[in-house]
Amino acid sequence: MISLSKIEKEIKKIEQDVTNCKRCDLWKTRNNPVAGEGSVTTKVMFIGEAPGYNEDMQGRPFVGKAGKILDELLYSVGFERKEIYIANILKCRPLKNRNPLRKEIKACTSYLDKQIMTMKPKVIVTLGNFASSYVLEKFGFQAERIGKIHGKIFHIKNLLFDTRIIPSYHPAAAVYNPNLKNALMKDFKSIIEAI
Ligand code: URA
Ligand code: SF4
Repeated sequence: MISLSKIEKEIKKIEQDVTNCKRCDLWKTRNNPVAGEGSVTTKVMFIGEAPGYNEDMQGRPFVGKAGKILDELLYSVGFERKEIYIANILKCRPLKNRNPLRKEIKACTSYLDKQIMTMKPKVIVTLGNFASSYVLEKFGFQAERIGKIHGKIFHIKNLLFDTRIIPSYHPAAAVYNPNLKNALMKDFKSIIEAI
């Protein structure tokens, strides 16, 4: 039998815990939880907000319209999905894609914290206001509105981490706004600088 690496085992365990999770009410209306997907040895982790309709149906992150834009952005900087890891703040879909509630974020983010702690990526790209605020504040930075801080590089350097956080817009915001797509492309170029 192929023995899984320690990191793979830990990430599988988190995925399993998410599958069984009932810590907030979103488990009642989910079709599938979306723990995350990709390479567990990645240098770059992307963090979105929460599953939408397509993600909830398929149990995979960023597979709808926003996912198509994310794929284009990844391609523009030379990444394939299988090389990176994609997670979300919430692992279950809020109905009608409403914003995550504070209590849901509080209930769910220990899973994301464990994913970050286990993989210790060199770069974390946070997509949109919710992911950016959560991750920046977790590491002691002040999170201002995404329009102000997108594309900036926040460096965490301590005993455990040597990691750069790059906040960017949420790809869904670019579905109907080509200007934001250009800004996203520019932000994604910072990933290459930061690796
Ligand atoms: N939007 C997100 O924030 N995450 C997904 O997985 C899909 C769309
Ligand atoms: Fe559990 Fe998170 Fe799903 Fe709520 S959103 S049920 S905390 S996995």
